[in-house]
Amino acid sequence: MKKMIFLLAALLLLATMSSCAKQPETDNKTSSVVVGFSQLGAESSWRIANTESMETAAKEAGFGLMMENANQKQEKQIDAIRSFIAYQVDVIVFSPIVESGWDNILNEAFTAGIPVILMDRMISNNDENLYTTYVGADFYAEGRRAGEYLIRKADAMNAELMNIVEICGTVGSTPMRDRQQGFMDAIKDDPRFNVIDSICGDFLRSMGGECAEMLLEKYGSDTIDVIYSHNDSMTLGALDVLEQQGIRPGKDIILITVDGEKEAVDALKAGKINCVVQCTPNLGPSVMELVRKLKAGEKVPKITHPDEGIFCDFDDLSDPAVEGF
Ligand code: AHR
Repeated sequence: MKKMIFLLAALLLLATMSSCAKQPETDNKTSSVVVGFSQLGAESSWRIANTESMETAAKEAGFGLMMENANQKQEKQIDAIRSFIAYQVDVIVFSPIVESGWDNILNEAFTAGIPVILMDRMISNNDENLYTTYVGADFYAEGRRAGEYLIRKADAMNAELMNIVEICGTVGSTPMRDRQQGFMDAIKDDPRFNVIDSICGDFLRSMGGECAEMLLEKYGSDTIDVIYSHNDSMTLGALDVLEQQGIRPGKDIILITVDGEKEAVDALKAGKINCVVQCTPNLGPSVMELVRKLKAGEKVPKITHPDEGIFCDFDDLSDPAVEGF
């Protein structure tokens, strides 16, 4: 009898949780595939473009998209994934704000038999059972490209010593860790480069500006030769501060940034940014193709990286191919 009451209570709880979960946003009411998507926030233009890419691609594929935005809170992402499991979505897609802390919730998805696609960012646990596939940038390669550009720039300038400050993305996230590591590895054997400080700007434009103010106050503009910033939002915030202080971005201080949003590419064309390392937010079509394959029972690769490169002041910037998102 006790067992029976417990079973009924459990069924009731599950039914309540499912009815609380947000209904999928889709035009296609008959869509038989529902994707639960936990977006980590709206911290940058990159992120906003990425959300749009997911929405458009889901619509085009005819899939229902149940999306929750976590506003930079890991707990909210975990709650969203739990509601997707209760709703029994077909596939869960999520962009982990940081790399650690996902084991329990991903084990729950695994036990429920729901495939998980990691989009944009990675998790730290090497247990490959915890996710089905990853689609997103090779952030380490991006960091290396930033460093390789700087070596070329130092050669062109006949520079003997360059003091570098780094404005980092969210601590504990994949792009922060790998963009830093790739950059450091690229320049580490070159004695001309001296990284004098590294501070966190959380991928936010406002924080990029605050970081630039702090760094300029601490070291002075004559000491800082290069700002390497992990995304365009922070770079554009820093660029505003440099101009307010009468420092010429791109000339007095070299600016290297990552993403490739329109405002940053326009600043490159205007000579205010020296190098833009591309990172595409347009991951929606690849994600939906993976969803389709998973539903069809087809094999999917464990990792998919988009093709990316750089735009920089050595390029012909009048080339129409040089454009931002
Ligand atoms: O994870 C990708 C990074 O996150 C982008 O470079 C940045 O702009 C975003 O906030």
